[in-house]
Amino acid sequence: MLKNAYILTLISLFFACNTSEKDSSTATISPFDQKVDSVLNLMTLEEKIGQMNQYSGFWDATGPAPKDGSAAKKYEHLKKGWVGSMINVRGVENVKAVQKIAVEETRLGIPLIIGFDVIHGYETISPIPLAESASWDLEAIQKSASNAAQEAAAAGINWTFAPMVDITRDARWGRVMEGAGEDPYLGSKIAIARVQGFQGEDLSSEKTIAACAKHFAGYGFAESGKDYNTVDVNHSTLFNIILPPFKAAEEAGARTFMNSFNELDAIPATGNGFIQRDILKGEWDFQGFVVSDWGSINEMIAHGYAKDSKHAAELAVNAGSDMDMESYAYVEHLSELVKEGKVEEKTIDEAVRRILKVKFELGLFDNPYKYCDEVREKETIGNAQMQEGVLDMAKKSIVLLKNENNLLPLKREGQKIAIIGALANDKTSPLGNWRLAGRDGTAVSFLEGMQNYQGNQITYAKGADVYTEPMTFAKQVQINTSDRSGFNEAIANAKQADVVIMVLGEAGLQSGEGRSRAYLDLPGVQQDLLEAVYAVNKNIVLVLQNGRPLAIQWAHEHIPTILEAWQLGTQSGNAIAQVVYGDYNPSGKLPMSFPKHVGQEPIYYNYKNTGRPHEPSPDEVFWSHYIDESNAPLYPFGYGLSYTSFEYSNLKVEKIAEASLKVNFDLKNVGELKGKEVAQVYIRDLVASITRPVKELKGFELIELNAGETKSIEITLSENELGFYNNEGDFVFEPGDFQIFVGGSSEASLNQRIEL
Ligand code: NOJ
Repeated sequence: MLKNAYILTLISLFFACNTSEKDSSTATISPFDQKVDSVLNLMTLEEKIGQMNQYSGFWDATGPAPKDGSAAKKYEHLKKGWVGSMINVRGVENVKAVQKIAVEETRLGIPLIIGFDVIHGYETISPIPLAESASWDLEAIQKSASNAAQEAAAAGINWTFAPMVDITRDARWGRVMEGAGEDPYLGSKIAIARVQGFQGEDLSSEKTIAACAKHFAGYGFAESGKDYNTVDVNHSTLFNIILPPFKAAEEAGARTFMNSFNELDAIPATGNGFIQRDILKGEWDFQGFVVSDWGSINEMIAHGYAKDSKHAAELAVNAGSDMDMESYAYVEHLSELVKEGKVEEKTIDEAVRRILKVKFELGLFDNPYKYCDEVREKETIGNAQMQEGVLDMAKKSIVLLKNENNLLPLKREGQKIAIIGALANDKTSPLGNWRLAGRDGTAVSFLEGMQNYQGNQITYAKGADVYTEPMTFAKQVQINTSDRSGFNEAIANAKQADVVIMVLGEAGLQSGEGRSRAYLDLPGVQQDLLEAVYAVNKNIVLVLQNGRPLAIQWAHEHIPTILEAWQLGTQSGNAIAQVVYGDYNPSGKLPMSFPKHVGQEPIYYNYKNTGRPHEPSPDEVFWSHYIDESNAPLYPFGYGLSYTSFEYSNLKVEKIAEASLKVNFDLKNVGELKGKEVAQVYIRDLVASITRPVKELKGFELIELNAGETKSIEITLSENELGFYNNEGDFVFEPGDFQIFVGGSSEASLNQRIEL
């Protein structure tokens, strides 16, 4: 604490001399701004640049010092005060060790901000973000982020690199698992829920952490769904589809942003001043800081935009990237660049001010060890609150895709159930990707979840592998297994069963960063297994476990019941079993379209009509279509069934002001069970100065109804929902004709036209 006490004394002395002057000249400056300035005034140029430098964890912090060169360099830099942040250091003991060096061994003792990818839970894992998004339950999503923050904060973490708010339309892209799907409206609402969940109302609480909206911007539009690939989007797509969730996250108070690996308008996002300076820090007046993505500053060399690391540092900092994650470019070159006049010192000061301010907001200057309490760590990680939280979220994330003959919910007694599939007995895959602190083998498997119910007789057969061990974050998962030796046992079990439950899909690390796929079918020989079992028993419930939409047309055509169970985290098996037995009536709706075939990708509901939209007759050629597949998805955005059913009626749309209307309709539960429905409102702006999508989600409500119950729903749409961004980036409302749709998916057909 010695050095920290020193800096705090200096800060108070500085205040004593300067407060009145600041107060009279700039009334709007916050107390944090004044504190930040008082620290900044004490710093050398090298120390300032140090704050802009972030390193990944490099040694067992409580053990011997690192031996290899780069780790030694990091250690030396840390001691000199040339490191402002570390990532991938976790656990109170390890965090304390690095924080101690920063606070007690450097000249000024400025605390580190400790970042970590808390993407869907810390050690207790919640459903992958795409799955959580399928709940459309903003309160639950916020709670999930808040629990994750609490658990991570108890392990010494101050800052998560989440939420990923990239809109994604291409299921081939591995990182679709990490986002909220294809829609900017739903994506914005979820971005707000997640930011508020992580940050809470008081960032300085030891239960909250700073959020990071990423990847700014356009990363989800990687061409061909191939990770890190070129992005080529027009201004309308940028302003209307890509940026809204980022703006929402900013408005919700996200303290940091991360830029992205891709180029935008032929300029790498990391060096892109238009989005970072003009839009984010200019137009949106963002007051937090921007961190680069991992090595993305130096990657501008490979992009062909920077000639070397020094040039990359110059381009990145001038474009508004405040912190360098693992490129070493700032720490090695910024000082020289300032001396040469290529980077102004005020640019450095601005970046450092932003970084220090977030550290003050987190309370790190008051107590750098406030997130380092071993007792709290022990009491919080994996406790009942965490387990209950992830179970609740998991149930809400499941989507019922098909349920012919009401095969589900399953009868509770007297049934012979054959459970088939390697994923059914997998205690790691349900954790999904991006769960770095989640320990292998800690998920409740589907088989375990089902075994908690006693009344039926269960058999289990693996049938076929989905991947070959080992499965690690940094190593490609092998999926080309062709081993059919387990088929016979699976077929024999299926023959004896009343109901077969097949758990098929992707291993936990078959989606995520660097895991793009060219095929969207069931990996390995799982499709063959499904068909072989179907040949002997057609009473199949297919439970999908996957990190992205899959193309499962054969299954849709043949299998009576299909449940989308994504990768649901630690309590996965319990959540699925509760849905299978009807203890929870599924209520999820897809946040991303499922294609019939991979060749339809990117496929999304809010497409443009084009000049040749109609399907005049089957033998007409000259319209926008495929000759070998329909344009429609297998399951559309917003789609999902329940064990009950709902009916929409009495739509009434009324103009209530020049740019505002009221949508009224009735929703009735016409089935026999209590259930929840996500009622969705879409608009179509029929004629505008730029072309508009055929449908845009603009409102939704999650409603629970008893069997037979009806509720009248009213949703108001105003300029914010009815307007759009023109190609100059200005938000405009254009009066004219609108069509309003309501229903239980993006295929909502009940509609009314209205002139505004
Ligand atoms: C690279 C990823 O793109 C980013 O999302 C992540 O936060 C960083 N690595 C840090 O792990």
